[in-house]
Amino acid sequence: MRLKAFTYIILLLLIGSSCAKEYAPASLDKIRLVWNDSPETTMTIGWDQNEGENPTVYFGTKDKGQNWNKYDLSQEVSREVSHLGMNTRFCELKDLLPNTAYYFVIKDSEGVSERFWFRTAPDTPTPFTCIMGGDTKCEGEAYIAGRFTNQMVPKLRPLFVMFCGDFTHNAITAEHWEQWLTDWFELTRTEDGRLFPIVPVMGNHENRDFEVLNKVFNSPHQYDNSENIYYSLSLGGDFFHMISTNSEIDIAGDQTTWLEENLQKNKDFTFNMAAGHKPFSPHTTKKSERISEYRQWSYLFYKYGLDIYLDADSHMSKITFPLKPDSINGFQGFVRDDLDGTMYIGEGSWGATPRPANDDKPWTLRSGSFNQVKWLQVFPETETNPAHIDIRTVITSTRDGDDKAVSHVDGVSSLSENDVFGIPEGINIFSTEPYGPVITYPFKDKTQGK
Ligand SMILES: [Fe+2]
Repeated sequence: MRLKAFTYIILLLLIGSSCAKEYAPASLDKIRLVWNDSPETTMTIGWDQNEGENPTVYFGTKDKGQNWNKYDLSQEVSREVSHLGMNTRFCELKDLLPNTAYYFVIKDSEGVSERFWFRTAPDTPTPFTCIMGGDTKCEGEAYIAGRFTNQMVPKLRPLFVMFCGDFTHNAITAEHWEQWLTDWFELTRTEDGRLFPIVPVMGNHENRDFEVLNKVFNSPHQYDNSENIYYSLSLGGDFFHMISTNSEIDIAGDQTTWLEENLQKNKDFTFNMAAGHKPFSPHTTKKSERISEYRQWSYLFYKYGLDIYLDADSHMSKITFPLKPDSINGFQGFVRDDLDGTMYIGEGSWGATPRPANDDKPWTLRSGSFNQVKWLQVFPETETNPAHIDIRTVITSTRDGDDKAVSHVDGVSSLSENDVFGIPEGINIFSTEPYGPVITYPFKDKTQGK
């Protein structure tokens, strides 16, 4: 009897060990997720294929670990690009379920990747969070600060990240893009393998290669011209619409025609936002005003009720009151209009060395000089609360007396998957006094007793 039991245990151990199969690693890296089409039902997975062949994504709504043949679904590569020294592969997943976790591995002739996962966007009005910022550098303290900011992403577990241009130095090199993508892959994923989709925006550091975001992120373009990288995305049904504009090509003409049609078509969304790299009115004296965008776009934003415009480029932080364009009475063409105006937020210091905040306007709500991102919590209407967006400026790095980048991310607690609306312990949120650390859009000025 004892011998029988012993044999039985050995048999179970043998079966167990054959189930926990170990795979050789696939020959690929720099995996990134991108939103290029409906975030509710699609996801683009991109990576750099090193040596292996025939890569395929195996995926499904059940976590099968690295057991690629246990996943319900598979998708072959949909686009191959050889550019910037990388063998980029894109796999566009379609017909996904909204607001759903998907698990995946990439298998090639060499082996199987780690198991990763992502979440699709909801297709009904549902609360979500996102991170918005821009401007990273490739060397020195600015590079180090950018890596600190990357580390904030997995701690906050946003639905997506909008990156508002200037990924690398303005001399586009393979080395710098490889470094950026490696850091993004290594530093912005969670310990449980969750990856966060990026929504890229063109910056002036990308403008020596106007197609670069299409080649690196498969970003959409207009008018059958892959240099016209501007596009829009919607999520939550008719809840949230966002536009990625392109400040580096012609503003007037095709892009403005497209922009007005897009704003008009989507004006009934609960929230509309747009992003463009260069601020119309920068908050540092080192940067000049952008008259062309102001003339072409600010009146369209107001006409069609754009809620928020995200910008970058200046390497600092600002939030304005909601603004209405008024070229006659306005300061630099804007007057405050809390009721119907567009709130301008930015100005891009993900990693780039902060410039002085020395050019406030009468309608500036608050500016500051440090590395930062904007963290948005977006809420639909409920029985007790109107739809609103809570905006926080998260400080990720400052400089010490020796001009060394100091992390404000180390020691910040991580939010759990079930509590992405919590406030992590140790997080450094810029206090926009007298309004406090949270600026809510639509904006109600509590200091005016409204
Ligand atoms: Fe820039």
